[in-house]
Amino acid sequence: MAKTLKIGSVGLGRLGYEHAKNIANYVTGAELTAICDTDAAHVAHVAEELNVPYTYTDVAEMVKNPELDAIVVVSPSMFHAEHIKLALDAGKHCFCDKPLDTTVEKCKLAEKAVEAHPDKVFMLGFMRRFDDSYAEAKRRIDAGDIGKVVLVRSYTQDPRSTIESTLKFAPHSGGQYLDMCVHDIDLIRWFTGSDVKNVWAIGGVFEFDLYKELNDADNAAATIQMENGAMGFMFTNRTHAAGCNVETEIIGTHGTLRIANVGAKNLLNIVDEHGSREEYYPDFMSRWHEAFVAEMVAFTGHVRDNTKPADLTVYDGTAVSEAAYRCKESFETGKMLPIR
Ligand code: NAI
Repeated sequence: MAKTLKIGSVGLGRLGYEHAKNIANYVTGAELTAICDTDAAHVAHVAEELNVPYTYTDVAEMVKNPELDAIVVVSPSMFHAEHIKLALDAGKHCFCDKPLDTTVEKCKLAEKAVEAHPDKVFMLGFMRRFDDSYAEAKRRIDAGDIGKVVLVRSYTQDPRSTIESTLKFAPHSGGQYLDMCVHDIDLIRWFTGSDVKNVWAIGGVFEFDLYKELNDADNAAATIQMENGAMGFMFTNRTHAAGCNVETEIIGTHGTLRIANVGAKNLLNIVDEHGSREEYYPDFMSRWHEAFVAEMVAFTGHVRDNTKPADLTVYDGTAVSEAAYRCKESFETGKMLPIR
């Protein structure tokens, strides 16, 4: 067996802390050797909790650590391309969470950095692909079980209970389309096996004025048409009443696949004065915990086996961000837009 993969992780916020815990506790063959965040006190706290030997507040310093094999990038999205380049140029393999970056220009910089280091593994974190239900749907589509994919409908709703941290995160998120819809766009591209051709995005500010200031929507939708004629529809908001809700339906010429109501966190049925119910996963971290671990296990496996993720490349990251960016433009202009 190859040696343990020594990982340095940058960004220890909502998701970065999750990834750090996962690497430290659940990813066989990997070790959390270094962490970095601009918040020094937080770094010290996490290092103590997870027993991490090296700590940094500057990623440019962390990537110089010769013990590290790989860098996991979970910093704010607008730093992704920069941090990917720093990692790869320093000779490290790199995993970067979605989105690739917040502008197409910066995504292209990430592409250049990846192209300059063909011997290094680069993997993008679209964790839904590693969820059992989504992976099974993809296997069935590829096996031809539902014929030709005609329509993918995808809803992504964060819970109202986490709205405070969502609002704090909003100004540097890149906006609803770049932050949330990228998951749906990635799934639509993956399931239809096609690139986006046209987008028409609509939405509005129904509750939180902050989104007006950000020229964004708190409830956003988009219809997209793929190069092969398939259709996609997505809807996103941050105020689902009962926890994290992600639903996907794939309609084919010979059948339909639904990944709905996975919101239920277990099979417990609760009957009380409100009636009968199942509780939802309270947040995205718990809903996707297994998928977050699975994608990190996959990344570790790619590095150790010297393989590349075949259908989750830096170019997929650019294509998804480009489509999301066009959705944002479509939302702002009210026009249906071709992808380029
Ligand atoms: P966050 O705002 O909670 O945390 C960001 C962290 O990065 C903070 O601790 C901050 O101090 C630190 N930071 C800021 N600038 C930095 C720099 N230059 N160098 C090092 N650290 C820096 O953000 P969150 O929610 O953890 O998101 C981080 C990334 O993860 C984003 O790109 C986001 O799109 C992605 N994400 C992906 C999700 C998924 O479903 N796959 C879910 C949530 C986030």
